[in-house]
Amino acid sequence: MTLPPSDALPAWLLERLQAAGGAVPFRTYMEWVLHDSAHGAYGSGHLGIGPAGDFATAPSLGPDFATLLAPQIGDWLIALAAVPRPLALVEAGPGEGSLALQLAEALVAGWPQLAQRLELVLVEPNEGMAARQRALLQDCPLPCRWASFAELAASPLRGVVLAHEVLDALAVERIVWDGALWRQQLVALHEGPEAELSLRLEPGAPLEPAAAAQLEPLGLLPPLPQRPPGWCTELHPGLAPWLGECAEAVAEGQLLVIDYALEAWRYYAPQRSDGTLMAYRGQQASGDPLLEPGAWDLTAHLCIESVDAAAAFSGWQPLGQCRQGQALLALGLAERLHGLQQQPPAELATVLARREALLRLVDPRALGEFRWLAYGRGLDRQALLAPPRFLQEPGL
Ligand SMILES: C[S@@+](CC[C@H](N)C(=O)[O-])C[C@H]1O[C@@H](n2cnc3c(N)ncnc32)[C@H](O)[C@@H]1O
Repeated sequence: MTLPPSDALPAWLLERLQAAGGAVPFRTYMEWVLHDSAHGAYGSGHLGIGPAGDFATAPSLGPDFATLLAPQIGDWLIALAAVPRPLALVEAGPGEGSLALQLAEALVAGWPQLAQRLELVLVEPNEGMAARQRALLQDCPLPCRWASFAELAASPLRGVVLAHEVLDALAVERIVWDGALWRQQLVALHEGPEAELSLRLEPGAPLEPAAAAQLEPLGLLPPLPQRPPGWCTELHPGLAPWLGECAEAVAEGQLLVIDYALEAWRYYAPQRSDGTLMAYRGQQASGDPLLEPGAWDLTAHLCIESVDAAAAFSGWQPLGQCRQGQALLALGLAERLHGLQQQPPAELATVLARREALLRLVDPRALGEFRWLAYGRGLDRQALLAPPRFLQEPGL
Protein backbone atom coordinates (compact mmCIF):
# COMPACT_ATOMS: atom_id res chain seq x y z
CA MET A 1 0.00 0.00 0.00
CA THR A 2 1.38 3.43 -0.89
CA LEU A 3 1.02 5.76 2.04
CA PRO A 4 -0.43 9.21 1.54
CA PRO A 5 2.44 11.75 1.67
CA SER A 6 1.11 13.24 4.89
CA ASP A 7 1.67 9.95 6.75
CA ALA A 8 5.05 9.24 5.17
CA LEU A 9 6.29 12.77 5.78
CA PRO A 10 3.99 14.70 8.12
CA ALA A 11 3.96 18.49 7.82
CA TRP A 12 5.36 19.02 11.33
CA LEU A 13 8.39 16.85 10.57
CA LEU A 14 8.96 18.49 7.20
CA GLU A 15 8.99 21.91 8.90
CA ARG A 16 11.45 20.75 11.57
CA LEU A 17 13.77 19.17 9.05
CA GLN A 18 13.68 22.24 6.83
CA ALA A 19 14.40 24.46 9.85
CA ALA A 20 17.37 22.19 10.69
CA GLY A 21 18.82 22.57 7.18
CA GLY A 22 17.34 19.40 5.70
CA ALA A 23 18.87 16.71 7.93
CA VAL A 24 19.24 15.80 11.63
CA PRO A 25 21.14 13.05 13.48
CA PHE A 26 19.07 9.86 13.83
CA ARG A 27 18.99 10.41 17.59
CA THR A 28 17.18 13.74 17.17
CA TYR A 29 14.68 12.15 14.79
CA MET A 30 14.01 9.29 17.24
CA GLU A 31 13.55 11.76 20.09
CA TRP A 32 11.00 13.71 18.01
CA VAL A 33 8.99 10.80 16.69
CA LEU A 34 8.72 9.13 20.10
CA HIS A 35 8.62 11.97 22.59
CA ASP A 36 7.41 15.15 20.93
CA SER A 37 4.47 16.22 23.09
CA ALA A 38 2.16 16.92 20.13
CA HIS A 39 3.31 14.41 17.51
CA GLY A 40 5.46 11.73 19.17
CA ALA A 41 4.16 8.19 19.57
CA TYR A 42 4.60 8.33 23.38
CA GLY A 43 4.56 12.11 23.79
CA SER A 44 1.08 12.44 22.33
CA GLY A 45 -0.02 9.27 24.16
CA HIS A 46 -1.51 7.59 21.10
CA LEU A 47 0.52 4.36 21.29
CA GLY A 48 -1.52 1.59 22.86
CA ILE A 49 0.24 -1.12 24.87
CA GLY A 50 -1.35 -4.58 25.12
CA PRO A 51 -2.51 -7.45 22.91
CA ALA A 52 -5.20 -5.19 21.40
CA GLY A 53 -2.85 -2.22 21.03
CA ASP A 54 0.38 -1.61 19.14
CA PHE A 55 2.57 -4.13 21.00
CA ALA A 56 2.30 -6.30 24.08
CA THR A 57 4.55 -6.16 27.14
CA ALA A 58 4.74 -8.76 29.93
CA PRO A 59 2.31 -7.00 32.33
CA SER A 60 -0.15 -6.38 29.50
CA LEU A 61 -0.57 -10.17 29.21
CA GLY A 62 -2.08 -10.38 32.71
CA PRO A 63 -1.13 -10.03 36.38
CA ASP A 64 1.07 -13.17 36.62
CA PHE A 65 4.26 -11.27 35.73
CA ALA A 66 3.73 -8.75 38.56
CA THR A 67 2.71 -11.48 41.00
CA LEU A 68 5.95 -13.36 40.27
CA LEU A 69 8.04 -10.19 40.52
CA ALA A 70 6.43 -8.99 43.78
CA PRO A 71 8.44 -11.27 46.16
CA GLN A 72 11.69 -9.90 44.75
CA ILE A 73 10.52 -6.32 45.30
CA GLY A 74 9.18 -7.39 48.72
CA ASP A 75 12.60 -8.81 49.72
CA TRP A 76 14.37 -5.61 48.77
CA LEU A 77 11.82 -3.38 50.50
CA ILE A 78 11.88 -5.49 53.68
CA ALA A 79 15.67 -5.10 53.87
CA LEU A 80 15.29 -1.33 53.42
CA ALA A 81 12.48 -1.23 56.02
CA ALA A 82 14.96 -1.89 58.85
CA VAL A 83 15.38 1.90 59.01
CA PRO A 84 12.05 3.48 60.11
CA ARG A 85 11.54 5.80 57.15
CA PRO A 86 8.97 5.86 54.33
CA LEU A 87 9.58 3.56 51.41
CA ALA A 88 8.92 4.01 47.71
CA LEU A 89 8.33 1.77 44.75
CA VAL A 90 9.19 3.80 41.66
CA GLU A 91 8.20 2.73 38.19
CA ALA A 92 9.97 4.60 35.42
CA GLY A 93 8.19 4.54 32.07
CA PRO A 94 4.95 2.94 33.29
CA GLY A 95 3.25 2.79 29.86
CA GLU A 96 -0.43 2.09 30.52
CA GLY A 97 0.29 1.81 34.29
CA SER A 98 -0.67 -1.88 34.42
CA LEU A 99 2.56 -3.11 36.02
CA ALA A 100 2.44 -0.39 38.70
CA LEU A 101 -1.17 -1.23 39.54
CA GLN A 102 -0.63 -5.00 39.54
CA LEU A 103 2.46 -4.67 41.76
CA ALA A 104 0.65 -2.36 44.17
CA GLU A 105 -2.17 -4.91 44.46
CA ALA A 106 0.25 -7.82 44.94
CA LEU A 107 2.30 -5.97 47.59
CA VAL A 108 -0.76 -4.84 49.55
CA ALA A 109 -2.15 -8.39 49.51
CA GLY A 110 1.12 -10.18 50.33
CA TRP A 111 2.98 -7.68 52.51
CA PRO A 112 0.27 -5.56 54.19
CA GLN A 113 2.51 -4.14 56.93
CA LEU A 114 5.19 -3.14 54.50
CA ALA A 115 2.57 -1.60 52.23
CA GLN A 116 1.49 0.75 55.02
CA ARG A 117 4.85 2.51 54.70
CA LEU A 118 4.96 2.38 50.92
CA GLU A 119 4.13 4.92 48.24
CA LEU A 120 4.09 4.37 44.50
CA VAL A 121 5.96 6.93 42.41
CA LEU A 122 5.58 7.08 38.64
CA VAL A 123 8.27 8.70 36.52
CA GLU A 124 6.75 9.51 33.14
CA PRO A 125 8.00 12.39 31.00
CA ASN A 126 5.24 12.03 28.40
CA GLU A 127 2.04 13.74 29.51
CA GLY A 128 -0.01 11.77 26.98
CA MET A 129 0.97 8.52 28.72
CA ALA A 130 0.72 9.98 32.24
CA ALA A 131 -2.94 10.88 31.60
CA ARG A 132 -3.73 7.23 30.83
CA GLN A 133 -1.78 6.05 33.90
CA ARG A 134 -3.74 8.44 36.17
CA ALA A 135 -7.01 7.01 34.87
CA LEU A 136 -5.92 3.40 35.45
CA LEU A 137 -4.44 4.08 38.89
CA GLN A 138 -7.47 5.97 40.21
CA ASP A 139 -8.29 3.15 42.65
CA CYS A 140 -4.70 2.09 43.33
CA PRO A 141 -4.46 0.62 46.85
CA LEU A 142 -1.18 2.51 47.51
CA PRO A 143 -0.80 6.29 47.67
CA CYS A 144 0.65 7.32 44.32
CA ARG A 145 2.17 10.38 42.75
CA TRP A 146 3.95 11.37 39.53
CA ALA A 147 7.37 13.03 39.71
CA SER A 148 10.51 13.44 37.63
CA PHE A 149 13.85 12.13 38.85
CA ALA A 150 14.97 15.76 39.21
CA GLU A 151 12.00 16.46 41.54
CA LEU A 152 12.71 13.31 43.56
CA ALA A 153 16.38 14.31 43.90
CA ALA A 154 15.33 17.19 46.19
CA SER A 155 14.64 14.56 48.85
CA PRO A 156 16.25 11.28 47.71
CA LEU A 157 14.20 8.23 48.61
CA ARG A 158 14.66 4.73 50.02
CA GLY A 159 13.14 2.19 47.75
CA VAL A 160 13.13 0.17 44.56
CA VAL A 161 13.14 1.59 41.03
CA LEU A 162 11.76 -0.55 38.26
CA ALA A 163 12.59 0.18 34.62
CA HIS A 164 10.62 -2.32 32.55
CA GLU A 165 10.90 -1.76 28.79
CA VAL A 166 11.77 1.89 29.17
CA LEU A 167 15.49 2.20 28.42
CA ASP A 168 14.85 0.70 24.98
CA ALA A 169 12.76 3.81 24.25
CA LEU A 170 15.69 6.21 24.84
CA ALA A 171 16.81 7.75 21.56
CA VAL A 172 19.89 6.03 20.12
CA GLU A 173 22.68 7.34 17.94
CA ARG A 174 23.05 5.30 14.76
CA ILE A 175 26.52 5.06 13.27
CA VAL A 176 27.61 3.83 9.86
CA TRP A 177 31.00 2.39 8.87
CA ASP A 178 32.09 3.79 5.49
CA GLY A 179 35.06 1.45 5.08
CA ALA A 180 37.53 3.89 6.66
CA LEU A 181 35.62 5.98 9.22
CA TRP A 182 32.59 5.86 11.49
CA ARG A 183 29.93 8.39 10.54
CA GLN A 184 26.83 9.56 12.36
CA GLN A 185 23.66 8.45 10.54
CA LEU A 186 21.31 11.25 9.53
CA VAL A 187 17.62 11.39 8.69
CA ALA A 188 17.50 13.66 5.66
CA LEU A 189 14.97 15.12 3.25
CA HIS A 190 15.40 13.67 -0.22
CA GLU A 191 14.08 15.34 -3.36
CA GLY A 192 12.91 12.90 -6.05
CA PRO A 193 12.89 13.44 -9.85
CA GLU A 194 9.48 15.16 -9.72
CA ALA A 195 10.54 17.34 -6.76
CA GLU A 196 8.61 15.14 -4.37
CA LEU A 197 10.11 15.00 -0.90
CA SER A 198 10.71 11.88 1.14
CA LEU A 199 12.83 10.79 4.10
CA ARG A 200 16.12 9.02 3.69
CA LEU A 201 18.80 7.60 6.00
CA GLU A 202 22.26 8.79 4.98
CA PRO A 203 25.76 8.93 6.46
CA GLY A 204 26.74 12.29 7.92
CA ALA A 205 29.94 13.75 9.35
CA PRO A 206 32.64 11.51 10.89
CA LEU A 207 32.15 10.81 14.58
CA GLU A 208 33.78 13.28 16.93
CA PRO A 209 36.95 11.88 18.54
CA ALA A 210 35.21 11.84 21.97
CA ALA A 211 32.39 9.66 20.60
CA ALA A 212 34.90 7.45 18.80
CA ALA A 213 36.58 6.74 22.18
CA GLN A 214 33.37 4.96 23.34
CA LEU A 215 33.85 2.46 20.53
CA GLU A 216 36.89 0.73 22.00
CA PRO A 217 35.13 -1.28 24.77
CA LEU A 218 32.50 -2.31 22.22
CA GLY A 219 35.10 -3.81 19.87
CA LEU A 220 34.37 -1.22 17.19
CA LEU A 221 37.72 0.54 16.86
CA PRO A 222 39.17 0.37 13.33
CA PRO A 223 40.50 -1.55 11.53
CA LEU A 224 37.25 -3.47 11.05
CA PRO A 225 37.93 -5.92 8.23
CA GLN A 226 34.69 -7.88 8.69
CA ARG A 227 32.37 -4.89 8.39
CA PRO A 228 31.65 -3.83 4.79
CA PRO A 229 30.90 -0.16 4.00
CA GLY A 230 27.32 0.62 5.08
CA TRP A 231 27.51 -1.59 8.21
CA CYS A 232 25.36 0.19 10.76
CA THR A 233 24.72 -0.06 14.47
CA GLU A 234 23.62 1.93 17.53
CA LEU A 235 25.24 3.70 20.49
CA HIS A 236 23.31 4.63 23.64
CA PRO A 237 24.22 8.18 24.67
CA GLY A 238 20.97 8.53 26.67
CA LEU A 239 21.87 5.81 29.17
CA ALA A 240 24.43 7.62 31.33
CA PRO A 241 22.29 10.76 31.85
CA TRP A 242 19.22 8.63 32.64
CA LEU A 243 21.04 6.39 35.13
CA GLY A 244 22.73 9.45 36.65
CA GLU A 245 19.40 11.25 37.21
CA CYS A 246 17.89 8.08 38.60
CA ALA A 247 20.85 7.70 41.00
CA GLU A 248 20.40 11.26 42.28
CA ALA A 249 16.80 10.39 43.19
CA VAL A 250 17.74 7.34 45.28
CA ALA A 251 19.56 7.57 48.63
CA GLU A 252 19.35 3.83 49.31
CA GLY A 253 17.79 1.21 47.17
CA GLN A 254 17.77 -1.04 44.15
CA LEU A 255 17.23 -0.50 40.46
CA LEU A 256 15.90 -3.35 38.33
CA VAL A 257 16.21 -2.90 34.58
CA ILE A 258 14.21 -5.41 32.53
CA ASP A 259 14.64 -5.06 28.80
CA TYR A 260 15.84 -6.41 25.49
CA ALA A 261 19.62 -6.51 25.94
CA LEU A 262 22.64 -8.21 24.42
CA GLU A 263 26.30 -8.62 25.37
CA ALA A 264 28.59 -6.35 23.29
CA TRP A 265 30.02 -9.32 21.37
CA ARG A 266 26.51 -10.25 20.23
CA TYR A 267 25.26 -6.71 19.73
CA TYR A 268 28.22 -5.65 17.62
CA ALA A 269 28.85 -9.00 15.89
CA PRO A 270 29.86 -8.55 12.21
CA GLN A 271 26.75 -10.40 10.98
CA ARG A 272 24.39 -7.94 12.77
CA SER A 273 24.84 -5.43 9.97
CA ASP A 274 21.87 -3.15 10.69
CA GLY A 275 21.81 -2.93 14.50
CA THR A 276 18.76 -3.87 16.55
CA LEU A 277 16.37 -1.01 15.83
CA MET A 278 12.75 -2.10 15.26
CA ALA A 279 9.45 -0.33 14.71
CA TYR A 280 6.12 -1.61 16.10
CA ARG A 281 2.55 -0.66 15.37
CA GLY A 282 -0.73 -2.59 15.46
CA GLN A 283 1.14 -5.81 16.42
CA GLN A 284 3.25 -5.46 13.24
CA ALA A 285 7.06 -5.27 13.36
CA SER A 286 9.23 -3.50 10.80
CA GLY A 287 12.94 -2.80 10.44
CA ASP A 288 12.18 0.56 8.77
CA PRO A 289 12.38 3.41 11.30
CA LEU A 290 11.09 5.96 8.77
CA LEU A 291 7.61 4.47 8.41
CA GLU A 292 4.78 6.91 9.30
CA PRO A 293 6.90 9.00 11.69
CA GLY A 294 5.23 9.47 15.07
CA ALA A 295 2.80 6.59 14.56
CA TRP A 296 5.19 3.67 15.25
CA ASP A 297 7.08 2.75 18.40
CA LEU A 298 10.83 2.67 17.81
CA THR A 299 12.97 0.53 20.05
CA ALA A 300 16.62 -0.52 20.19
CA HIS A 301 18.15 -3.24 22.37
CA LEU A 302 20.45 -2.32 25.24
CA CYS A 303 24.11 -3.31 25.22
CA ILE A 304 24.75 -4.93 28.62
CA GLU A 305 28.31 -3.62 28.96
CA SER A 306 27.11 -0.08 28.10
CA VAL A 307 24.41 -0.26 30.79
CA ASP A 308 26.92 -1.64 33.32
CA ALA A 309 29.46 1.08 32.52
CA ALA A 310 26.88 3.89 32.69
CA ALA A 311 25.47 2.47 35.94
CA ALA A 312 28.93 2.22 37.54
CA PHE A 313 29.72 5.77 36.44
CA SER A 314 26.57 6.98 38.27
CA GLY A 315 27.38 5.11 41.49
CA TRP A 316 25.15 2.04 40.98
CA GLN A 317 26.75 -1.21 42.14
CA PRO A 318 25.89 -4.48 40.37
CA LEU A 319 23.63 -6.92 42.24
CA GLY A 320 23.31 -9.56 39.53
CA GLN A 321 21.80 -10.23 36.13
CA CYS A 322 20.27 -13.04 34.10
CA ARG A 323 17.74 -13.86 31.41
CA GLN A 324 14.06 -13.36 32.19
CA GLY A 325 13.31 -17.07 31.73
CA GLN A 326 15.77 -17.97 34.49
CA ALA A 327 14.58 -15.13 36.77
CA LEU A 328 10.91 -16.10 36.51
CA LEU A 329 11.63 -19.79 37.09
CA ALA A 330 13.56 -18.81 40.24
CA LEU A 331 10.55 -16.77 41.32
CA GLY A 332 8.15 -19.69 40.97
CA LEU A 333 6.80 -19.69 37.42
CA ALA A 334 6.85 -23.49 37.13
CA GLU A 335 4.82 -23.87 40.36
CA ARG A 336 2.37 -21.31 39.04
CA LEU A 337 1.94 -23.26 35.81
CA HIS A 338 1.41 -26.43 37.80
CA GLY A 339 -1.13 -24.66 40.05
CA LEU A 340 -3.23 -23.81 36.97
CA GLN A 341 -4.01 -27.52 36.57
CA GLN A 342 -5.91 -27.43 39.87
CA GLN A 343 -8.37 -24.78 38.58
CA PRO A 344 -12.02 -25.84 38.10
CA PRO A 345 -12.90 -26.97 34.53
CA ALA A 346 -15.42 -24.10 34.24
CA GLU A 347 -12.47 -21.70 34.08
CA LEU A 348 -10.81 -23.53 31.21
CA ALA A 349 -10.63 -20.50 28.89
CA THR A 350 -8.98 -18.31 31.55
CA VAL A 351 -6.59 -21.08 32.51
CA LEU A 352 -5.52 -21.61 28.90
CA ALA A 353 -4.95 -17.87 28.38
CA ARG A 354 -2.87 -17.63 31.58
CA ARG A 355 -0.90 -20.72 30.63
CA GLU A 356 -0.09 -19.24 27.24
CA ALA A 357 0.94 -15.92 28.83
CA LEU A 358 3.20 -17.66 31.36
CA LEU A 359 4.88 -19.69 28.63
CA ARG A 360 5.40 -16.56 26.55
CA LEU A 361 7.20 -14.91 29.49
CA VAL A 362 9.88 -17.63 29.51
CA ASP A 363 9.94 -18.63 25.84
CA PRO A 364 13.46 -17.84 24.53
CA ARG A 365 11.89 -16.80 21.19
CA ALA A 366 9.59 -14.36 22.97
CA LEU A 367 10.01 -12.52 26.29
CA GLY A 368 12.27 -15.16 27.92
CA GLU A 369 15.35 -13.60 26.30
CA PHE A 370 14.79 -10.29 28.11
CA ARG A 371 17.53 -9.48 30.63
CA TRP A 372 17.10 -8.60 34.28
CA LEU A 373 19.92 -6.27 35.36
CA ALA A 374 19.93 -5.29 39.06
CA TYR A 375 21.95 -2.55 40.73
CA GLY A 376 22.09 -1.08 44.23
CA ARG A 377 22.99 2.24 45.81
CA GLY A 378 23.69 3.30 49.37
CA LEU A 379 23.44 -0.34 50.50
CA ASP A 380 25.61 -1.97 53.16
CA ARG A 381 28.05 -4.75 52.27
CA GLN A 382 25.69 -7.51 53.34
CA ALA A 383 22.90 -6.22 51.10
CA LEU A 384 25.31 -5.86 48.20
CA LEU A 385 26.58 -9.41 48.54
CA ALA A 386 23.22 -11.15 49.11
CA PRO A 387 22.13 -12.71 45.79
CA PRO A 388 18.70 -11.45 44.72
CA ARG A 389 15.91 -14.02 44.91
CA PHE A 390 15.64 -14.01 41.11
CA LEU A 391 19.15 -15.53 40.89
CA GLN A 392 18.58 -18.28 43.44
CA GLU A 393 17.62 -21.89 42.72
CA PRO A 394 13.84 -22.25 42.19
CA GLY A 395 12.05 -23.11 45.41
CA LEU A 396 14.73 -21.72 47.79
C1 LIG B 1 7.29 0.41 26.24
S1 LIG B 1 6.59 1.54 27.34
C2 LIG B 1 6.81 0.74 28.88
C3 LIG B 1 5.74 -0.11 29.26
C4 LIG B 1 5.55 -0.50 30.70
N1 LIG B 1 6.71 -0.36 31.55
C5 LIG B 1 5.05 -1.91 30.70
O1 LIG B 1 5.72 -2.72 31.26
O2 LIG B 1 4.01 -2.19 30.12
C6 LIG B 1 7.76 2.84 27.54
C7 LIG B 1 7.32 3.87 28.56
O3 LIG B 1 8.45 4.67 28.92
C8 LIG B 1 8.09 6.04 28.85
N2 LIG B 1 9.33 6.79 28.66
C9 LIG B 1 9.95 7.14 27.53
N3 LIG B 1 11.10 7.80 27.79
C10 LIG B 1 11.23 7.84 29.13
C11 LIG B 1 12.20 8.39 30.02
N4 LIG B 1 13.26 9.04 29.57
N5 LIG B 1 12.00 8.23 31.35
C12 LIG B 1 10.90 7.59 31.83
N6 LIG B 1 9.94 7.08 31.02
C13 LIG B 1 10.11 7.20 29.69
C14 LIG B 1 7.10 6.07 27.72
O4 LIG B 1 6.34 7.25 27.67
C15 LIG B 1 6.28 4.84 28.06
O5 LIG B 1 5.38 5.12 29.11
